[in-house]
Amino acid sequence: MTSPIQSYLAGLHARFAGLDDGQVATYIPELAKADPSLFAIVVATVDGQVYEVGDSRVPFTIQSVSKPLAYGLALQDCGAQAVGQRVGVEPSGEAFNSISLEPSTGRPLNPMINAGAIAISSMLAAAHGGDALAQLLAVTSAYAGRPLQIDTAVFESERATGHRNRAIGHLLRNYEIIGSDPEPALDLYFQQCAVQVHARDLALTAATLANGGVNPVTGQRAVDEQHVGAILSLMTTCGVYDFSGEWVLRVGMPAKSGVGGGIMAVLPGQLGIAVFSPALDAQGNSARGVRAFELLSTELGLHFLRPPRAAASTIRARYTLKAVRSKRQRRAAERAMLDLHGDRAAVFELQGDLRLSTLEPVMRAITEPSAGLDLAVLDFKRVSHADPTAVRMLAQLLACCAARGQQLVFTRVRRGELLAGLGEELDPRFARALNLQPQLDLGLEWCERALLQQHPPAVTDDGACALAGHRLCDGLGAAELELLSARIEQQELEPGTLIVRQGEPARALYLLLRGEVSVTVDLPQGGHRRLSTLTAGMLFGEAALLHSGLRTADVRADTSVRCGTLSLEAFAQLEADYPALCVRLMRNVLRQASGTIAHLTGEVAALEA
Ligand code: DON
Repeated sequence: MTSPIQSYLAGLHARFAGLDDGQVATYIPELAKADPSLFAIVVATVDGQVYEVGDSRVPFTIQSVSKPLAYGLALQDCGAQAVGQRVGVEPSGEAFNSISLEPSTGRPLNPMINAGAIAISSMLAAAHGGDALAQLLAVTSAYAGRPLQIDTAVFESERATGHRNRAIGHLLRNYEIIGSDPEPALDLYFQQCAVQVHARDLALTAATLANGGVNPVTGQRAVDEQHVGAILSLMTTCGVYDFSGEWVLRVGMPAKSGVGGGIMAVLPGQLGIAVFSPALDAQGNSARGVRAFELLSTELGLHFLRPPRAAASTIRARYTLKAVRSKRQRRAAERAMLDLHGDRAAVFELQGDLRLSTLEPVMRAITEPSAGLDLAVLDFKRVSHADPTAVRMLAQLLACCAARGQQLVFTRVRRGELLAGLGEELDPRFARALNLQPQLDLGLEWCERALLQQHPPAVTDDGACALAGHRLCDGLGAAELELLSARIEQQELEPGTLIVRQGEPARALYLLLRGEVSVTVDLPQGGHRRLSTLTAGMLFGEAALLHSGLRTADVRADTSVRCGTLSLEAFAQLEADYPALCVRLMRNVLRQASGTIAHLTGEVAALEA
């Protein structure tokens, strides 16, 4: 089935196929043979999807579209400073073959006009000697994602007739911009212009620049990322010569044209686009190409200075510890303290890409005095990328928090990739303001502990509870307690003991009398998740009373534990002999279950808010 983009491009192609504006280039005799009816449009995404219509695989010569690629290679191999000494970065406002040199130095105004490109060729020829062409071909091929060749006929045709370029080369020699015989540089320049490509190659070349220098189909790097910004800047200001201003106004994408009929344009981070049609307008740009790009930009909203509306909020959810707690079940006194002070700790679940503009509201929300936060949890699970500025800002945030006595907890950070570099950015004196936790739940628990340390509950005990004080026994008289107690087996367990195993038949109900246990389930992707941590006075395994199926979770002792076990058989006997007692027990079981449900409902409401 044709995709919507494919059919849109087919429609666009049909709208311009009949346009017969412009002339094919004739100043290079071989180019005069081009068929003016050829026409292709290709769009390539930064994840390697390519949409092509028309004559997208018909070869033509790259011509001036090679100039930004050679410029990038020179920046990489000769250094930005050396390149800057020989070639400027100012638009000439003149034709591609103008002799636009700085009057005092003879430096060509920019590397996109012939004079600048020939100066760049001379630097590559000097740097690589006899290997220069092979280097250039390798790089051009890496951009396109397939091995490219020279069209020898076009090369020889231009070499034989390129008197103006030859004159420019010798003028540059005169100004010592070229330090030796200009002929090897001119040959390299003519060869670079004669590289044979098709429109798909140019779209992938543009997509490679959009993708930070890596071809999105092959994954091969064509140019160091640090030079992509310079290449795209020069394409923006000088890429279509004396039409550059109009182009930015009407199309708004860094672009480069060539007299072979190709134009490529880059939407950084998103797309590479190429149009091929050999008939040229007065400025030497493909006539259909310019028209098609104008419409593409308007209809698809691609102008880089009319960006789409700001991305969705980075803060996906925000709640305090008053509303949402860790899976550790706490005694009443602790719960009361957390109810009282829970709004001093907030969780920010973040999403999307972090950069200055998206991180700013998060930093404001944490440091705003009116928020009154002592603790903030930043959950990174849904953060897809953090740019270096965001990492630097997080380090700054930690420094501010340390100074104000606030504590940050980062949860679910894929540390290696996501916040790589935080270690170097963070002043070790402020590292104490940061705590890292692999799970959000553990981050919540860490904050609860910190709050309870700041505000200890008035009554503390060793966590043990006698059977009479256990919540299962609420409201029982002495005789009932004795009946129950006789049927409960008590045992002491070592830390780490697996008390209940997921998948095993449920045969008993457990009363936790001392210590702590955690209930966990295995996750399909490996690892496990904590459902709750229970303390003395609580029940577990109670589902067995209702249906004696299979256990749905593991329960393990976190500390040394005293545990009472009431078997299903004992309970059934109790039910037959003392139904009133069983009703009371069931009511107590139900009270714990409904407390859990009320707590979870509150959490859902807070998370949805
Ligand atoms: O220098 C020349 O004349 C050609 N080989 C390249 C010129 C070119 O493609 C100008 N771009 N529109």
